[in-house]
Amino acid sequence: MYEFKDYYQNTVQLSFEHQPFSDSPKHVWVICRYGDKWLLTEHEDRGFEFPGGKVEPMECAEEAALREVKEETGAAVRHLKYVGQYKVLGREKVIVKNIYFADIEKLEKQADYFETKGPVLFSELPENLPRNKKFSFIMKDSVLPISLKKLKEDGVFQS
Ligand code: GTP
Repeated sequence: MYEFKDYYQNTVQLSFEHQPFSDSPKHVWVICRYGDKWLLTEHEDRGFEFPGGKVEPMECAEEAALREVKEETGAAVRHLKYVGQYKVLGREKVIVKNIYFADIEKLEKQADYFETKGPVLFSELPENLPRNKKFSFIMKDSVLPISLKKLKEDGVFQS
Protein backbone atom coordinates (compact mmCIF):
# COMPACT_ATOMS: atom_id res chain seq x y z
CA MET A 1 0.00 0.00 0.00
CA TYR A 2 1.16 3.54 -0.76
CA GLU A 3 0.46 6.51 1.47
CA PHE A 4 1.00 10.17 0.59
CA LYS A 5 -0.61 13.61 0.81
CA ASP A 6 -2.84 14.99 -1.91
CA TYR A 7 -2.83 18.51 -3.35
CA TYR A 8 -4.82 19.75 -0.32
CA GLN A 9 -2.64 17.89 2.23
CA ASN A 10 -5.27 15.19 2.84
CA THR A 11 -3.83 11.72 3.43
CA VAL A 12 -4.34 9.30 0.54
CA GLN A 13 -3.92 5.51 0.68
CA LEU A 14 -3.56 3.69 -2.64
CA SER A 15 -3.47 -0.04 -3.35
CA PHE A 16 -3.58 -2.28 -6.43
CA GLU A 17 -5.22 -5.14 -4.51
CA HIS A 18 -8.83 -5.95 -5.33
CA GLN A 19 -10.99 -3.32 -3.56
CA PRO A 20 -8.98 -3.25 -0.30
CA PHE A 21 -10.84 -0.35 1.31
CA SER A 22 -14.46 -0.93 0.24
CA ASP A 23 -16.52 -3.48 -1.70
CA SER A 24 -18.92 -0.72 -2.64
CA PRO A 25 -16.86 2.37 -3.47
CA LYS A 26 -18.90 5.51 -4.06
CA HIS A 27 -16.49 7.10 -6.53
CA VAL A 28 -14.74 6.07 -9.75
CA TRP A 29 -11.92 7.48 -11.85
CA VAL A 30 -11.05 6.26 -15.33
CA ILE A 31 -7.64 6.55 -17.01
CA CYS A 32 -8.64 6.61 -20.69
CA ARG A 33 -6.46 5.68 -23.65
CA TYR A 34 -7.71 6.38 -27.19
CA GLY A 35 -5.23 4.87 -29.66
CA ASP A 36 -1.89 6.46 -28.77
CA LYS A 37 -3.46 9.39 -26.87
CA TRP A 38 -4.81 10.12 -23.41
CA LEU A 39 -8.47 11.09 -23.29
CA LEU A 40 -9.36 13.60 -20.61
CA THR A 41 -12.29 15.89 -19.97
CA GLU A 42 -12.20 19.59 -19.11
CA HIS A 43 -14.11 20.05 -15.88
CA GLU A 44 -15.70 23.51 -15.70
CA ASP A 45 -14.16 24.34 -12.31
CA ARG A 46 -11.28 21.92 -11.82
CA GLY A 47 -9.71 21.87 -15.29
CA PHE A 48 -8.31 18.91 -17.21
CA GLU A 49 -8.75 15.51 -15.59
CA PHE A 50 -9.48 11.91 -16.43
CA PRO A 51 -13.25 11.37 -16.30
CA GLY A 52 -14.96 10.05 -13.22
CA GLY A 53 -17.47 10.80 -10.53
CA LYS A 54 -19.93 9.32 -8.12
CA VAL A 55 -21.52 5.89 -8.25
CA GLU A 56 -25.30 6.37 -8.37
CA PRO A 57 -27.77 4.35 -6.32
CA MET A 58 -28.56 1.00 -8.04
CA GLU A 59 -25.36 1.21 -10.06
CA CYS A 60 -22.15 -0.76 -9.59
CA ALA A 61 -18.72 0.87 -9.85
CA GLU A 62 -18.06 -0.52 -13.37
CA GLU A 63 -21.39 0.84 -14.63
CA ALA A 64 -20.57 4.23 -13.11
CA ALA A 65 -17.16 4.19 -14.81
CA LEU A 66 -18.69 3.52 -18.25
CA ARG A 67 -21.42 6.12 -17.69
CA GLU A 68 -19.02 8.84 -16.51
CA VAL A 69 -16.69 8.29 -19.48
CA LYS A 70 -19.64 8.58 -21.88
CA GLU A 71 -21.18 11.63 -20.16
CA GLU A 72 -17.94 13.59 -19.82
CA THR A 73 -16.23 12.73 -23.11
CA GLY A 74 -18.75 11.07 -25.45
CA ALA A 75 -16.56 7.97 -25.60
CA ALA A 76 -17.54 4.32 -25.78
CA VAL A 77 -15.25 1.90 -23.95
CA ARG A 78 -13.95 -1.24 -25.71
CA HIS A 79 -12.47 -2.72 -22.56
CA LEU A 80 -12.54 -1.60 -18.91
CA LYS A 81 -9.89 -2.90 -16.54
CA TYR A 82 -9.84 -2.53 -12.75
CA VAL A 83 -6.52 -0.97 -11.67
CA GLY A 84 -6.77 -0.23 -7.97
CA GLN A 85 -8.51 1.69 -5.27
CA TYR A 86 -7.69 4.75 -3.18
CA LYS A 87 -8.99 6.28 -0.02
CA VAL A 88 -8.86 10.00 0.71
CA LEU A 89 -9.06 10.94 4.39
CA GLY A 90 -10.60 14.36 3.98
CA ARG A 91 -11.33 16.86 6.70
CA GLU A 92 -15.08 16.33 6.49
CA LYS A 93 -15.37 12.88 4.99
CA VAL A 94 -13.52 9.84 3.78
CA ILE A 95 -14.01 8.83 0.17
CA VAL A 96 -13.07 5.59 -1.58
CA LYS A 97 -12.49 5.63 -5.32
CA ASN A 98 -11.93 2.79 -7.80
CA ILE A 99 -9.39 3.42 -10.55
CA TYR A 100 -10.00 1.86 -13.97
CA PHE A 101 -8.14 1.82 -17.24
CA ALA A 102 -10.34 2.18 -20.31
CA ASP A 103 -9.38 1.29 -23.84
CA ILE A 104 -11.57 3.68 -25.85
CA GLU A 105 -13.32 2.33 -28.93
CA LYS A 106 -14.88 5.49 -30.37
CA LEU A 107 -15.45 9.12 -29.59
CA GLU A 108 -18.74 10.70 -30.66
CA LYS A 109 -19.82 14.33 -30.42
CA GLN A 110 -22.71 14.96 -28.09
CA ALA A 111 -24.85 17.97 -27.16
CA ASP A 112 -24.08 17.91 -23.45
CA TYR A 113 -20.98 16.88 -21.53
CA PHE A 114 -22.58 17.38 -18.09
CA GLU A 115 -20.39 19.47 -15.77
CA THR A 116 -17.54 19.46 -18.26
CA LYS A 117 -16.56 21.12 -21.53
CA GLY A 118 -16.07 17.69 -23.08
CA PRO A 119 -13.19 15.61 -24.43
CA VAL A 120 -9.57 16.72 -24.73
CA LEU A 121 -6.84 14.51 -26.24
CA PHE A 122 -3.21 14.64 -25.13
CA SER A 123 -0.30 12.87 -26.84
CA GLU A 124 1.61 13.22 -23.58
CA LEU A 125 0.66 14.44 -20.14
CA PRO A 126 2.68 17.51 -19.09
CA GLU A 127 5.81 16.98 -16.99
CA ASN A 128 5.03 19.13 -13.98
CA LEU A 129 1.33 18.50 -13.39
CA PRO A 130 1.17 19.76 -9.77
CA ARG A 131 2.23 23.22 -10.95
CA ASN A 132 -0.02 23.31 -14.01
CA LYS A 133 -3.01 25.58 -13.35
CA LYS A 134 -5.01 24.08 -16.21
CA PHE A 135 -5.12 20.66 -14.57
CA SER A 136 -7.47 19.45 -11.85
CA PHE A 137 -6.25 18.77 -8.31
CA ILE A 138 -7.18 15.08 -8.74
CA MET A 139 -4.35 14.80 -11.32
CA LYS A 140 -1.81 16.36 -8.94
CA ASP A 141 -1.05 13.75 -6.30
CA SER A 142 0.82 10.45 -6.58
CA VAL A 143 -2.25 8.40 -7.60
CA LEU A 144 -1.66 9.22 -11.26
CA PRO A 145 2.11 8.61 -11.62
CA ILE A 146 2.04 5.45 -9.48
CA SER A 147 -0.94 4.06 -11.44
CA LEU A 148 0.66 4.90 -14.81
CA LYS A 149 3.91 3.22 -13.75
CA LYS A 150 1.96 0.09 -12.73
CA LEU A 151 0.01 0.05 -16.02
CA LYS A 152 3.21 0.43 -18.01
CA GLU A 153 4.94 -2.36 -16.07
CA ASP A 154 1.91 -4.59 -16.68
CA GLY A 155 2.10 -3.83 -20.43
CA VAL A 156 -1.39 -2.34 -20.46
CA PHE A 157 -0.35 0.52 -22.73
CA GLN A 158 2.61 1.42 -24.91
CA SER A 159 3.99 4.94 -25.01
P1 GTP B 1 -21.22 16.35 -2.48
O1 GTP B 1 -21.31 17.64 -1.73
O2 GTP B 1 -21.71 15.15 -1.71
O3 GTP B 1 -21.76 16.42 -3.87
O4 GTP B 1 -19.71 16.04 -2.71
P2 GTP B 1 -18.44 16.94 -2.47
O5 GTP B 1 -18.50 18.18 -3.28
O6 GTP B 1 -18.16 17.06 -1.01
O7 GTP B 1 -17.31 16.10 -3.13
P3 GTP B 1 -16.97 14.58 -3.11
O8 GTP B 1 -17.88 13.75 -2.28
O9 GTP B 1 -16.82 14.18 -4.54
O10 GTP B 1 -15.55 14.60 -2.45
C1 GTP B 1 -15.35 15.02 -1.13
C2 GTP B 1 -13.92 15.50 -0.99
O11 GTP B 1 -13.07 14.41 -1.28
C3 GTP B 1 -13.51 16.58 -1.99
O12 GTP B 1 -13.70 17.86 -1.50
C4 GTP B 1 -12.05 16.31 -2.20
O13 GTP B 1 -11.29 16.98 -1.22
C5 GTP B 1 -11.93 14.83 -1.98
N1 GTP B 1 -11.79 14.10 -3.25
C6 GTP B 1 -12.75 13.67 -4.10
N2 GTP B 1 -12.21 13.02 -5.14
C7 GTP B 1 -10.87 13.04 -4.95
C8 GTP B 1 -9.77 12.53 -5.68
O14 GTP B 1 -9.88 11.89 -6.73
N3 GTP B 1 -8.54 12.77 -5.18
C9 GTP B 1 -8.34 13.44 -4.02
N4 GTP B 1 -7.10 13.63 -3.60
N5 GTP B 1 -9.36 13.96 -3.30
C10 GTP B 1 -10.61 13.73 -3.77
